[in-house]
Amino acid sequence: MRRPLLVANWKMNKDRDGARAYARALLTALEAAPPSETEVVVAPPFTLLETLGTAFEGSRVGLAAQNVSAEVQGAHTGEISAEMLSELGCQYCLVGHSERRANQGETSTQVAEKAAALLEAGLRPIICVGETGAEREAGRTAEIVGQQLEMSLPRISTPTANHLVVAYEPVWAIGTGVTATPEQAQEVQALLRERLRTILGESAEDVRLQYGGSVGPHTIQALMNQPDIDGALIGSAALDPETFEQMIANTHWENTSP
Ligand code: 13P
Repeated sequence: MRRPLLVANWKMNKDRDGARAYARALLTALEAAPPSETEVVVAPPFTLLETLGTAFEGSRVGLAAQNVSAEVQGAHTGEISAEMLSELGCQYCLVGHSERRANQGETSTQVAEKAAALLEAGLRPIICVGETGAEREAGRTAEIVGQQLEMSLPRISTPTANHLVVAYEPVWAIGTGVTATPEQAQEVQALLRERLRTILGESAEDVRLQYGGSVGPHTIQALMNQPDIDGALIGSAALDPETFEQMIANTHWENTSP
């Protein structure tokens, strides 16, 4: 069974006081909420990982980083290794977010190497893929996301499929307020699942597929009702702890796979 996974991607936002206040508010809201199967993770900037790791210790909230080096150690100024993230209490790490692909020129090959480094260190990569608006308009969505997925998967002999997460984040939906319709998202997510089946065989059923791009409290349930949407990667709406908690509360999981 694929457990639903909601991740708050803070991007480059918040300071230490803001992080502490967020953690307190989120934990308080979650304590008051009815029990739920949904796995909840927050991905702050590197500088706030330790603060949040301490604040969330012993709670149901997990920790993710937003980037990692593919290297294990050594002369890589400014880089941070998977082991270092693990030491800070991270269980997950985003790789290949479209903002990094576009602004830092990150390639799918590099993303695959980073994902492999994370798996080696016992962390779970969240591999992001997604087409631009122009690519969608040109009818190239399947080609682009299919290629990104195939090239971004870690080249390791036996990928532990239930440790892999793939996030479909159409670039045109990120930070625009325009969410993909549940049908648009499902169409691409089904395609991703099909590609995963070709590569991983039956284990593809264990890979969790998230949707990301302007997800909010009013859109999350319809998205999560889709058979190949197992979670959400949320940016701006999850910067507010109460709104994030509302999204967690609005996620009812009935469509689960095997
Ligand atoms: P928004 O939810 O702000 O559109 O951001 C989505 C995103 O990029 C999450 O990684």
